[in-house]
Amino acid sequence: MTKTILRALAGERLPVPPIWMMRQAGRYLPEYRATRAQAGDFLKLCYNPDLAAEVTLQPIRRFGFDAAILFADILLVPQALGADLWFVTGEGPRLSTVTTGEGVAGLRPAGAVHETLSPVYETVRILSRELPAETTLIGFAGAPWTVATYMVAGRGTRDQGPAHDFIARDRAGFQALIDLITGATVEYLSAQVEAGAEVIKLFDSWAGSLRGRDFDDFAVAPTRAIIAALKARHPHTPVIAFPREAGPRYEGFHKAVGADCVALDNSVDPDWAAAHVQRDGCVQGNLAPGHMVTGGQALIDETRRIVRAFSGGPHIFNLGHGITPDADPENVRLMIETVREGA
Ligand code: CP3
Repeated sequence: MTKTILRALAGERLPVPPIWMMRQAGRYLPEYRATRAQAGDFLKLCYNPDLAAEVTLQPIRRFGFDAAILFADILLVPQALGADLWFVTGEGPRLSTVTTGEGVAGLRPAGAVHETLSPVYETVRILSRELPAETTLIGFAGAPWTVATYMVAGRGTRDQGPAHDFIARDRAGFQALIDLITGATVEYLSAQVEAGAEVIKLFDSWAGSLRGRDFDDFAVAPTRAIIAALKARHPHTPVIAFPREAGPRYEGFHKAVGADCVALDNSVDPDWAAAHVQRDGCVQGNLAPGHMVTGGQALIDETRRIVRAFSGGPHIFNLGHGITPDADPENVRLMIETVREGA
């Protein structure tokens, strides 16, 4: 029997939507915190295949999600391209910066990324052996724009100002960075599929700050190029695209990039998205992660509203963004029960 997530991605409407959760392996789980402490720090955890596989499996054991997402980070690709990367506890990632065309030229070529990233492929191989038969394994990468925003600024930014400044100053230099990340991402994702990833997700977490031609050039075009290259090598691997906060640009996004599924953030109204986005294919989302902190009747009502809104077509239930460290695992259980009870 084909796995439920693969059926939804193929366009099938299911009586109960399959379910998984962004950042389902993470700090809200005591067992994750214990394994991270054992690894030493977050990056050591990402590059330790046995421990990375272990934290990927933890939410599957605890909650029985329909999919597992490989445990890694979108910022491993910049590191594999030669950027320095470290995480400051309580603050987030820090990277050496790339702000000029010369800086881009000093990075490693796309084909060199396997040297750094091969432990991630080993994690995928372990998972494809150890996951339950009904659970789908999702591999992922950051989309080039989002990855570039971190490489240019050297950290997370509220408005992605440094990347926008790079575009304004030297559009060709910035395009070279996007092209390099695009090539590296194709290499990285192909290797994940060859190791056993069954679905690929592209996270464009900062797509919402791009407007007009910039959205076309830096969100749509690189995502389309990655999906086309991946499908040329692996025609049967479905791809989920997540242009977070794209607003009206969600409409037509499946076709614009060639994605099998478009993931919706929680600013998108489910009824609007059912009419304007789901008509082009599977959608994923989009419960606000805050409900995993607050729980109660509001969680139940909103979960049911989303399930009902998308019940006319293919849908994978998920949050609209990653679960936060202050979430209560019991609320995750309540969300899953509510989805599976049928709305
Ligand atoms: O469970 C999963 O979803 C799989 C693993 C995963 C992580 N990060 C683990 C992680 C995935 C898919 C990501 C994607 C990712 N990483 C994104 C795109 C999705 C999004 O959230 O918008 C981005 C922008 C990053 C970059 C990143 N990694 C930031 C900004 C941070 C710091 C913020 C934070 O939450 O602490 C990270 C760290 C990170 N990545 C953690 C985890 C579990 C927390 C680190 C820790 O354990 O200390």
